[in-house]
Amino acid sequence: MDTPFKALVIGTGGREHALALALARDPQVSEVHAAPGNPGMAQVATLHDVDPMNGADVAALATKLDAGLVVVGPEAPLVAGVADAVTDAGISCFGPSLAAARIEGSKAFSKEVMAAAGVPTAGSRACTTAAEVEAALDDFGAPYVVKDDALAAGKGVVVTADRAEALAHAATCDRVVVEEFLDGPEVSLFAVCDGSTAYPLQPAQDFKRIFDGGRGPNTGGMGAYSPLPWTEPDLVETVMTTVVQPTLDELAGRGTPFRGCLYVGLSITKTGPRVIEFNCRFGDPDIQPVLALLESPLGSLLKAAAEGRLGEVEPPRFAAGAAVTVVLASKGYPESSSKGDVIIGTETLDKELDVDVIHAGTAGQGGSLVTAGGRVVAVRAVGRDIADARAKAYEGVASISFPGAQHRTDIAAEPLGVVEGRGATEA
Ligand code: AMP
Ligand code: GLY
Repeated sequence: MDTPFKALVIGTGGREHALALALARDPQVSEVHAAPGNPGMAQVATLHDVDPMNGADVAALATKLDAGLVVVGPEAPLVAGVADAVTDAGISCFGPSLAAARIEGSKAFSKEVMAAAGVPTAGSRACTTAAEVEAALDDFGAPYVVKDDALAAGKGVVVTADRAEALAHAATCDRVVVEEFLDGPEVSLFAVCDGSTAYPLQPAQDFKRIFDGGRGPNTGGMGAYSPLPWTEPDLVETVMTTVVQPTLDELAGRGTPFRGCLYVGLSITKTGPRVIEFNCRFGDPDIQPVLALLESPLGSLLKAAAEGRLGEVEPPRFAAGAAVTVVLASKGYPESSSKGDVIIGTETLDKELDVDVIHAGTAGQGGSLVTAGGRVVAVRAVGRDIADARAKAYEGVASISFPGAQHRTDIAAEPLGVVEGRGATEA
C-alpha cells in the first residue's frame, strides 16, 4: 500500500462532484481538493479559486498542495494541455496529454485512429463544403447524422430524418463529419488506461435527449443507470479486445500514449457493438451511477493509471445492486440556461444514506443555493435493483424544486436499453 496522498479534482460539474465523493471514500486519499469545484463539492473537498483552463495555475496549485494525484474532469482543459502542465511539474495526473486528448477534440482524428486500429464504428466522411455534405448525406441515407468536428459538449450532433435540418446544422459548422446511422441501444463503457493497459468499469447507459421517449434535442445527458442487465455477458470483454486495446496500442505506437479515461460510447447493433464516439474523460452523468457502486478504492486506481502501473492495483470491483441518476436541468436547457433561480429541497436529501445530490450547475448567492448552468443538480440513488434505485432517485427529484426545472420521467424505465436508440430514429 502506498502512503496516503492528497487528490486534486479539476472541474465544476456533476462528474467532478461524483469523483470527489468517491475519492473521499478511499482510505489512501488523505485530503480531497478541488479547483474551482462547486457548492456540493465543498462538503467533501477544499475548494480553490483557480481557472481549470490554465495549466500553469493548476500545476502551481498542485505543487503548493503537494498533491499526489490530479484528476482533470472535463475535456476542455485536457484538450488545452492542462494534463501536460501538471505532468511537467512532476505530479501524477489522471487525464490524457493534449496530443492524446485529440481522440475527443477532433471527431475526424478519432475516426482516423479507429480506422487505423480496425475498431468497429460507423462509416463516416469529413466534409468542409455544402456540396460535400450533400453528397455524403445521399450516400449514407436517412436518418442523417451530422457532427461538428470541434468540441461541442455533446450538443454538436444532429441526428434527424429531415435533410434540410441536417444541411442547416452543417452550415453552422466549419467542418463536419457525416456518418452512417447506427441503430441500437447505447452503452457507455469507461476504460481506465495507463498508456498501455486498461481496466473497464461497469457499463452504464445515458439518456441524451431532453424529453421522455428519447425526443427533442441532444443534451449533455439527462440521467443514467448502471449496471445494464440486458447486455450480453461478454460485452465488456468484447469491447476491451476489439476497441480499447487496439486504440491504446495505436495511440502508443504514434508516440502519444493515452493515460486517463477512454470513454467508449457504443451502439449495440444487430451486428455487434460499434463505437459512436470516443471521449477523453469520464461521462457525465453516466459515471455517476458507476462510481456509486464502486467498492474498490478510486484514488489508488487513478494514481496507478496516471503512473503507468495499473497492473499493480486490483481491477475495479462493484457492489451488487444498481444505481440511478436523474438530472434536473434549468429553464431553457439545452438551447440556453437560466441562472439565479433559487433551489430548495437539497438539504433534506443530504441526510439520506442511499441518496446523493450531485451538484453540476449551482452557486451560492446570499445564503441560498441558486442555478448556475444548464444541468443544475442530479439525484443519485443506489438500491437493491434498478427499480428500487429508480424509485429512490425519483422520490428525491420530487423533493427538489426551482423555477423552470425540467427532468425526464423515464430514466432507467422499461424497456431498458431500447428507448434511446429508437428515439434517435424518430427524431
Ligand atoms: P456524440 O457527440 O458523437 O456522442 O453524439 C451524441 C449523440 O448523438 C450520441 O450519443 C447518439 O445518441 C447520437 N449519435 C451520434 N452518432 C450517431 C450515429 N452514427 N448513429 C446514431 N446515433 C448517433
Ligand atoms: N453524458 C455524455 C458525455 O459525458 O459525453
